Amino acid sequence: MISQRTLFLQHVAQTSDFPLCLEIEKAEGMYLTDINNKTYLDLISGISVSNLGHRHPAIINAVKEQLEKYTYLMVYGEFVQSPQVKLAQLLISQLPSPLDSCYFVNSGSEANEGAMKLAKRYTGRQEIISFKNAYHGSTQGCLSIIGSDEYKNSFKPLLPSIIQLDFNCEKDIEKISKNTACVIVEPIMGEAGIIIPKNDFLLKLRKKCDETGSLLIFDEIQTGFGRTGKLFAFEHFQVVPDILTIAKAMGGGFPIGAFVSSNSIMSCLKNNPVLGHITTFGGHAISCVAALANLQTLIADKSLITGVEEKRKLFERNLIHPKIKKFRSFGLMIALEFESFEFNKSVIDCCITKGVLTDWFLFNSNSLRIAPPLIITESEIKFACDIILEAINQQP
Ligand SMILES: Cc1ncc(COP(=O)(O)O)c(C=O)c1O
Repeated sequence: MISQRTLFLQHVAQTSDFPLCLEIEKAEGMYLTDINNKTYLDLISGISVSNLGHRHPAIINAVKEQLEKYTYLMVYGEFVQSPQVKLAQLLISQLPSPLDSCYFVNSGSEANEGAMKLAKRYTGRQEIISFKNAYHGSTQGCLSIIGSDEYKNSFKPLLPSIIQLDFNCEKDIEKISKNTACVIVEPIMGEAGIIIPKNDFLLKLRKKCDETGSLLIFDEIQTGFGRTGKLFAFEHFQVVPDILTIAKAMGGGFPIGAFVSSNSIMSCLKNNPVLGHITTFGGHAISCVAALANLQTLIADKSLITGVEEKRKLFERNLIHPKIKKFRSFGLMIALEFESFEFNKSVIDCCITKGVLTDWFLFNSNSLRIAPPLIITESEIKFACDIILEAINQQP
């Protein structure tokens, strides 16, 4: 009989020649279990998705209840669907003014596509400013604004009028002008390997955008929903964007994203042309109830978010080793930088063999990623750190 692994390699399209190929049968809380009953401690949350861990009971129950009512009804924005309305209301209650209108989509890339379209439509301008080493998604619009030529070159031509700045470079802020429709930035750069804004960089971006009438977009697709120790990372910096994009952890394991703005900005998608952004499955009822339960849980159990900083410190205290060149972190977004990709990859592989699931970063392949579900316990952190140190020590 042909194995499932062989069929996977034959018929499920691959994105690299070296997929992990773990055959997971079940995932619960902090752990994934494979077909041989081996368990893996999840240190990456499916890249910042499972912030409440896997199969959180509140999410599972909400989905089961909704399955008894309806699954799909109609393309986005036509029917009043209670799961969408309740989710929008709760989300908006957690956001500062003027963010009071949510457009639900299917993914992070689509959230950024919608945000860029909205900014172009609202300002009547074409130029978009983003940052070197930024990651915003894989669609052609998002590819145009990511900060890596290696990923872009083979897919050109992409969007015109894109300018890329150096993150944390104050001089570059001057390039934002009255031609700029929007500036899109990750408040903490994820795939660049956890890069933190310095010297009020986000505030300076905000001021310049105010001067030029450009919209400021925060991509919180990786940083959102508690990962940094606040519900959203921008809360650490007292800077409010004109458009916020979210996805990943939003759905507690179900596919959903959103771009959020003010009613006055968002309303321009209604005309010239009508239906300025449309989506069939965006705001799917099942994803919305999952996202609602996810957000309700994060709000009700405050320690999930307030505990993030202590957990970060515990990782920091327990991950001291001469081979770790740098420990960069912001909340439970952690990067351990080694001397080379080869060394990093061998440590990662060794950790996986020992039952700890980790990964590297798209634009920082020397660094090992730690982004566990926020529910990780003290003893699990200590166990994970012991395994990582053991893996480092086993390298030649
Ligand atoms: C910061 C950021 N923006 C956008 C995206 C794209 O999200 P998606 O993969 O859901 O399209 C990602 C995904 O990793 C991300 O980390």
